[in-house]
Amino acid sequence: MPINESEIDKLLKQLKQQDKTPVATKTPKPKAQKPSRSGKWKDAPSWFFPSKYGEQVADELEVFINNRTPVMCIGGTGLGKTVITDMIARKLGRGSVGFNCYSGMDIASLVGLWLPHKGDVIWNHGIVTNAIIRGDVLRIEEWTRCTPELKSKMFGIMDSKDRYWALPEAKIDKVDVHENFTIVASANPAGKGYVGTMREDKATMSRFGAVIEINEPLADEKKAMLNATDNNHDLSQRIVRFAELCRKDALTYVSTRDIYYLATAIKSGLDPKRAVEVTIAPKFEGMESAIITHGRSVFEDMGKEIKTDTVSSVAKGKTDA
Ligand SMILES: Nc1ncnc2c1ncn2[C@@H]1O[C@H](COP(=O)(O)OP(=O)(O)OP(=O)(O)O)[C@@H](O)[C@H]1O
Ligand SMILES: [Mg+2]
Repeated sequence: MPINESEIDKLLKQLKQQDKTPVATKTPKPKAQKPSRSGKWKDAPSWFFPSKYGEQVADELEVFINNRTPVMCIGGTGLGKTVITDMIARKLGRGSVGFNCYSGMDIASLVGLWLPHKGDVIWNHGIVTNAIIRGDVLRIEEWTRCTPELKSKMFGIMDSKDRYWALPEAKIDKVDVHENFTIVASANPAGKGYVGTMREDKATMSRFGAVIEINEPLADEKKAMLNATDNNHDLSQRIVRFAELCRKDALTYVSTRDIYYLATAIKSGLDPKRAVEVTIAPKFEGMESAIITHGRSVFEDMGKEIKTDTVSSVAKGKTDA
């Protein structure tokens, strides 16, 4: 059967169009939806939004980190110091590494170690040496517990000029100190339940170019608790209220970390009053009854299991004490 020319044209057109049809390719993964954030906070953990006070502290800390000035942050535990230091380091395009000090710590693993390797022994830089070489922000937590040995070794790297890091243990005279390398130390304040912590001697303090006191939460706790409770508004509000009550007394100043643990315990099904007893009260020796009383006043009308007229034996013992 003869085919007319227009039909041939039609077929050719169709074939051409088929050629343009893209072959199946891997669909790019949709970009993860990040919570809307701006400026320096864009890299903070998803739960963390700054309080007004947090904004102010972060702005100051950024100035010093940007100038590579050693900074000491003195503040209560769990108020967000590490989170904001990490976040500022990221914003400035620096790495951030850290370690906790404790009495009797062995500094060899921080500085570097000779380790066996394929029948030989080779030198491996530790995290402090690596941070110095890479120009990271080095977080030294619980500075007051740092051994005198590490402190005196750190002095060379904290001088304002001619910073040096000698590694006689590795038979290396000097490693090149990266110009961006910055120390951010943190310490808990003396008193207020912080046993064994105290202000440093003058020689040490003079090596910190700035001392920032942090005595309030750096996080917007309403948002942090909403995140921790999967957006349970009632529960988050109660937890924030509970924190406010506790913080009226410096001796029961709960931290953001404390109330985060409380939130996760309640969210996971623990009776709220019991959650206060196990996640908060034991951390405030001698003040348990005050904490438990605040817990009762805030959480008593929550959930069926809560009986306002009884207190568990653990709580009662402490309350009566
Ligand atoms: N919604 C949340 N999700 C995850 N973690 C949370 C949340 N809310 C609070 N946190 C916790 O709050 C804490 C913030 O404190 P951070 O560790 O920065 O305190 P810090 O001031 O460095 O304390 P320290 O002096 O003990 O080192 C973190 O431990 C974090 O796990
Ligand atoms: Mg910390």
